[in-house]
Amino acid sequence: MNRAKVTIPNDLMHPWGIDIDLIEGTMCEPDRVLQRRASDMRGYYQEEAALDQLIAQGDPIHYEVFEKIIPEQYGHLLLCISKLYPGRVGAECFMTKGHYHVVSGTAEVYLCLRGQGYMMMKTAAGQSVAEPMRRHRMVYVPPHWAHRSINTGAEPLISFCVYPAEAGHNYGDIATEGFPKRVFIRQGQERIEP
Ligand code: F6R
Ligand code: ZN
Repeated sequence: MNRAKVTIPNDLMHPWGIDIDLIEGTMCEPDRVLQRRASDMRGYYQEEAALDQLIAQGDPIHYEVFEKIIPEQYGHLLLCISKLYPGRVGAECFMTKGHYHVVSGTAEVYLCLRGQGYMMMKTAAGQSVAEPMRRHRMVYVPPHWAHRSINTGAEPLISFCVYPAEAGHNYGDIATEGFPKRVFIRQGQERIEP
């Protein structure tokens, strides 16, 4: 019988667990909470004057990411809860900045715990997909697809995300190119435009 030789690194991580409230969509005792406010979103929305107004009205938190600290090294998985608040900038639904992974051949799993909206995805070759997000739905973001969450509902859009720890985030390309499609609510109707 062949036995693979198992080598154990000196910095072996001890196994651990945390509580995740699947009803509320919260992570108990995150190590780090990243907050993005309306003022962090300059340049992302179509109606800039509407964003300025929101900033002037108190610069509310737009979204939060609750994370555990895990080494950003090949072999590990990063996990977090992404919480995108409901609201509009003019008619455009609140959204995250969106990014490619720096190691663009890395995928990501989003399990939606609460709320409703879309995972907007695009490739550098111009393909674009808006995959619905709602409670109990999992969205698989394949390698090479930039991704952004969009909240079309009245409550926070909350997802549990898992992705390879070496992935990294490339925001620059999206900040300059944007996504080909945006989501609006016009006369009470959801519209994906153009
Ligand atoms: C990680 C990931 C999510 C997002 C989060 C915030 O790879 O996709 O955890 O980081 O939803 O969105 P961004 O990073 O686009 O500001
Ligand atoms: Zn990602």
